[in-house]
Amino acid sequence: MSDLEKIYSRFEETNKKAESGGGPDRIAKQKKEGRLTARERINLFFDPGTFVEMDKMVTHKCNNFDIEKTVIPGDGVVSGYGKVDGRLVFCFAQDFTVFGGSLSRSNADKIIKVMKQALKMGAPVVGLNDSGGARIQEGVMSLAGYGDIFFLNVKASGVIPQISAIMGPCAGGAVYSPAITDFIFMVKDSSYMFVTGPDVIKTVTHEEVTKNELGGPMTHNAKSGVAHFIGNDDEHTLMMIRELLSFLPSNNLDDAPVQKTTDPVDRLTNELQTLIPPDPNKPYDMHQIIQSVADEKHFFEVMPHYAKNIITGYMRLGGKPVGVVANQPDHLAGVLDINSSLKAARFVRFCDAFNIPLITFVDVPGFLPGTIQEYGGIIKHGAKLLYAYAEATVPKITVITRKAYGGAYDVMASKHLAADINYAYPTAEIAVMGPAGAVNIIFRGDDNPETIAKRVEDYRENFANPYKAAELGYIDEIIYPRETRKKLIQALDMTQGKREINPPKKHGNIPL
Ligand code: HXC
Repeated sequence: MSDLEKIYSRFEETNKKAESGGGPDRIAKQKKEGRLTARERINLFFDPGTFVEMDKMVTHKCNNFDIEKTVIPGDGVVSGYGKVDGRLVFCFAQDFTVFGGSLSRSNADKIIKVMKQALKMGAPVVGLNDSGGARIQEGVMSLAGYGDIFFLNVKASGVIPQISAIMGPCAGGAVYSPAITDFIFMVKDSSYMFVTGPDVIKTVTHEEVTKNELGGPMTHNAKSGVAHFIGNDDEHTLMMIRELLSFLPSNNLDDAPVQKTTDPVDRLTNELQTLIPPDPNKPYDMHQIIQSVADEKHFFEVMPHYAKNIITGYMRLGGKPVGVVANQPDHLAGVLDINSSLKAARFVRFCDAFNIPLITFVDVPGFLPGTIQEYGGIIKHGAKLLYAYAEATVPKITVITRKAYGGAYDVMASKHLAADINYAYPTAEIAVMGPAGAVNIIFRGDDNPETIAKRVEDYRENFANPYKAAELGYIDEIIYPRETRKKLIQALDMTQGKREINPPKKHGNIPL
């Protein structure tokens, strides 16, 4: 072997060592659990051949508990950048086959380097989490690594999109980095996240709970609201992340990418003409309106399993991505409660931070009454949604399809929170409350069913319609349901150059 061959051979060997991760046995174990390796995930995620790895030779520097005898180049995380649909994206993927993907100081520094580059270049960061948490042998050095990552997550919040996928374990304080990021994906049957695991819980509170019940994908997607999406397996999850990215700009100074569409901008949505039942107590599925108006009738729903009384997600109109918030009369009559307020408020703030116009469909009977809601703080949680809409300076376009009652009328992107265009269908009912409730209060003591029925009818005729609000200019235009797509695209076009700046301040004080 010549000297040069020896030099190249060392290079090749180190590369191979890095690429072999924790070795064939641990890789086989990972596969047996239904999980892909970090490198397989990265290869699937990025456009083919575009991934560029950084810090492949980085090793840990720890000498405790004999760990110095095992040194694997890369040290349990694969990091770098590549292209998704031709756009720059940074990524790190924890490699569970190397020390359980646990976070060493070196490992944290690799993640931090990627995050700093992403911030500098104005590109999203995607973290593929699969880790036993802090590298136990490194003690506080590992905790420091986490702390530094959390700090950068906060600095990057609202500047570049940050997306986390939980593709294995994610426990202890390690959950807080994903929690600060904008969206969390979990993988069905193979991921979990919790602050304290089942064993600690059993010791402290005597509760018995499985890992899956405690922190599995459905727990966080349907109950806690911590996560936003569930993928069927690793590959499906990675494809979902790619799709989410297609709706987002690369950073807060960019616009979201426009996609060519063959769907006519003036397509009539005739099917909506008969969708809204004349009986205000009858439900209908708001998804039908959203899908009907969207380009190619395609809607990408965010948090579909949580607080189903409000719908959030993305669609394109005339090729441009927009964020959708819509009350769902098909679930709890579309009422606003704590969970739906939180879900929508965070979504509105994300869209506003990243220049994504907001389309709001309103059919809301009000806020949910009851002690559970009041004791739970519906006042401050409902205020978050109000705050988020008022603070948002992106184009805001609203369509009232049916009920817009009471405080919920104001909250749901009304003219009073500076929406740019407010439409109402002829079926809209904009009033302080529903006719029966109003008559009950105004004519308290009247228990004659006939006069009550007449008064309810009078109230409906006079107040539960869109005309009073339109007379006052709070509704810009009453439109037929079949014109919805066309009107939304016209309004979007009109608001394209919108410039609105909130008064200078350090930051507002959203009622957290
Ligand atoms: C070092 C770790 C590790 C860790 C796992 N490994 N977690 N090494 N530090 N935190 C190693 C294991 O020793 C093992 O090495 C290999 O990774 C695979 O782990 P297994 O236990 O064989 O895998 P599995 O049976 O699938 O169990 C996965 C697990 C378990 C449930 C995650 O490994 C586990 O409980 N790990 C410890 C979790 C934990 O308590 N972490 C600290 C949390 S506190 P070998 O060589 O045998 O293959 C925390 C604080 C963060 O993270 C604070 C931030 C502020």
